[in-house]
Amino acid sequence: MKIETPYYLIDEKQLLKNLKVIRRIREKSGAKSVLALKCFSTWCVFDLMKQYLDGTTSSSSYEARLGYEKIGKEVHAYSVAYSKEDIKEISKFSDKIIFNSISQLKMFSKQVCDCQIGLRLNPQISYSHFDLADPSRKYSRLGVSDKKSILRVLPKLSGVMFHFNCENADFKNFSKNIDYLSRTYGKILGSLNWVSLGGGLYFTKQGYPVDKFCRKLKSFSERFNVQVYLEPGESAITQSCELVTKVLDIVHNKMDIAIVDASIEAHMLDLLVYRENAKIKSTGRYKYMIAGRSCLAGDVFGTYNFKSRLKVGSIIRFPDAAGYTMVKKNWFNGLKMPAIVVKRLNGKVEVVREFKYDDFVNALS
Ligand SMILES: Cc1ncc(COP(=O)(O)O)c(C=O)c1O
Repeated sequence: MKIETPYYLIDEKQLLKNLKVIRRIREKSGAKSVLALKCFSTWCVFDLMKQYLDGTTSSSSYEARLGYEKIGKEVHAYSVAYSKEDIKEISKFSDKIIFNSISQLKMFSKQVCDCQIGLRLNPQISYSHFDLADPSRKYSRLGVSDKKSILRVLPKLSGVMFHFNCENADFKNFSKNIDYLSRTYGKILGSLNWVSLGGGLYFTKQGYPVDKFCRKLKSFSERFNVQVYLEPGESAITQSCELVTKVLDIVHNKMDIAIVDASIEAHMLDLLVYRENAKIKSTGRYKYMIAGRSCLAGDVFGTYNFKSRLKVGSIIRFPDAAGYTMVKKNWFNGLKMPAIVVKRLNGKVEVVREFKYDDFVNALS
């Protein structure tokens, strides 16, 4: 089947590899996993994903509703700041409402009806390669650090959430930090029903010591008699999607530059935000800069070597295009929005969604 570029191609077989690790972690450690929708909310593959997940976690009332409607199971709501309207809306869909601050907890705890109440704690430790994504960066507004004030609201809490990792594939570091949390928050943890350890743990990365990870989670859970939750985003979907593009032009300015029918700013925004290159394997003797077709001068996916010369019409595939991509795609320059295509477990390829001029027009008014 010939599909018009550009498109995101999600491969359910690849997705399944990650989901099986999530299931193994639940079986071995008892830790439940709720998908972080902020990372990935392409719901056309949720029928598969929900078989392996315990639910979703969200950052807004729309995400909470999406989790409730498309996955069901447990719906954890967390937001850096809720409005009164958010709380009303979120209470309809959520099992747990996690507050980011004591002031928000006090403002809204009486209005959350049957939801369990949680609080985000900021342990002031973190693992992140980027200051931008570091929850314990200077002046961080993410979570409560002051232990005395946490103890004061403890009777209201059924659980707490720590999110302090970003792409952490270093089990030793995680283990050390869990020991730190146990020492520092022992009194608090012992009186809760559940503890979420957030996302950012790269347990689906090849070579990650999953069994050791499970033992650590289990002993933490048993020590404090709490249900442990993980909030995987990237780990759940890593390596399961490509952005497939086509070369539209090749220009030369001290080097060969191939311009494709997509853009980092519109279709893989995090490359720009975090100043990274797309992870194309670079092999061969023909070197090209691969650039996007937006007006941004720095719209560059990276520079790579290819086995043969590129020409107009050559297909370029950008791997690992699931996390924080489709959720951030935008209509910058009015560029054609990549379609969403899924390769199902049975090998069937389905074009699930194409975007047209009407979608561009309706995104604004
Ligand atoms: C509170 C919270 N939970 C979970 C996640 C998911 O993290 P990741 O996609 O790195 O696993 C994030 C990411 O920022 C987060 O802020």
